[in-house]
Amino acid sequence: MAKIFVTHPIPGAGVDMLRESKHEVAVNRESRFLSRDELLEAVVGCAGLLTQLREAIDAEVFDAAGDQLKVVSNYAVGFNNIDVDEATRREITVCNTPGVLTEATADIAWTLLMGVARRAVEGDHIMRAGDWSGWKPTELLGGDIEGRTLAILGAGRIGTAVARRSIGWNMKLMYTARSPKPDMEALGARHVDLETALREADFVSVHVPLTPDTHHLLNADRLAMMKPTAYLINTARGPVIDESALVVALKTGKLAGAGLDVYEDEPALKQGLTGCDNTLLLPHLGSATIQTRARMSELAARNLLTVLDNQAPPHAVNQIQA
Ligand code: GLV
Ligand code: GLV
Repeated sequence: MAKIFVTHPIPGAGVDMLRESKHEVAVNRESRFLSRDELLEAVVGCAGLLTQLREAIDAEVFDAAGDQLKVVSNYAVGFNNIDVDEATRREITVCNTPGVLTEATADIAWTLLMGVARRAVEGDHIMRAGDWSGWKPTELLGGDIEGRTLAILGAGRIGTAVARRSIGWNMKLMYTARSPKPDMEALGARHVDLETALREADFVSVHVPLTPDTHHLLNADRLAMMKPTAYLINTARGPVIDESALVVALKTGKLAGAGLDVYEDEPALKQGLTGCDNTLLLPHLGSATIQTRARMSELAARNLLTVLDNQAPPHAVNQIQA
């Protein structure tokens, strides 16, 4: 029997699956995230941790847990919050939840794309404020979507699902990736370099993981390559964009708008961002559907339990030699 700690309650069957195992399961009972000190205390003696994307899981946590720690199962596809190299050195398996949240996240990218291009939330605010005086030829003019060019930065599962949705809008597709992707080529998408994508696209949607290489991938210089009529969408990780440079670009008319689900310093926003009308800002909702969060829950539990049973988990992000 091993000890498992779930750092925050999750919806779905995951916690029940853990409880039905032979292991001893503790769940954070606070209706909030634990402080760092509370987390370090709660993990002592655990062999398995079920963690959240906003928690830094690093050497300090591994030290606090102890040598018996075998698996960290993140309730997310992204795992930039975990020091995977350090985990690998300590033979701790790190797991994530790809696949099950692909379609929900692609939907949020499209929600942002359509919402910002057609100024849907600005319109909603006018209605609620009682400020609508009736139809006008020039009210809240947005940008066309049909037939325009969509660039996908990072052609993984989610980027490809976003691209697939564009077929109904007859869009020209391009994508960046280290090598050509058959699924993208099958959609008629053109494999281009980052500069071409930024210079030619009307919509740029970010789908790269956050790594040292992609931190501030979209800095001031790269944002300046985009057309002033273009929109930037980010459902990946906030630090991929230099958010302060984005605020300047939006305020000075260098971009038509931005739709963001993720931020550089969540939950804080860079100064000036909420003052930009041409933005649609969502609170990290990519995977936030009842069905998707339930699938993530089951997958995170299965990942954790299979490692404790000395079997290969459905989704590990590192390889531990047995
Ligand atoms: C959400 O951001 C995730 O990585 O699952
Ligand atoms: C990345 O892991 C993706 O699902 O696109």
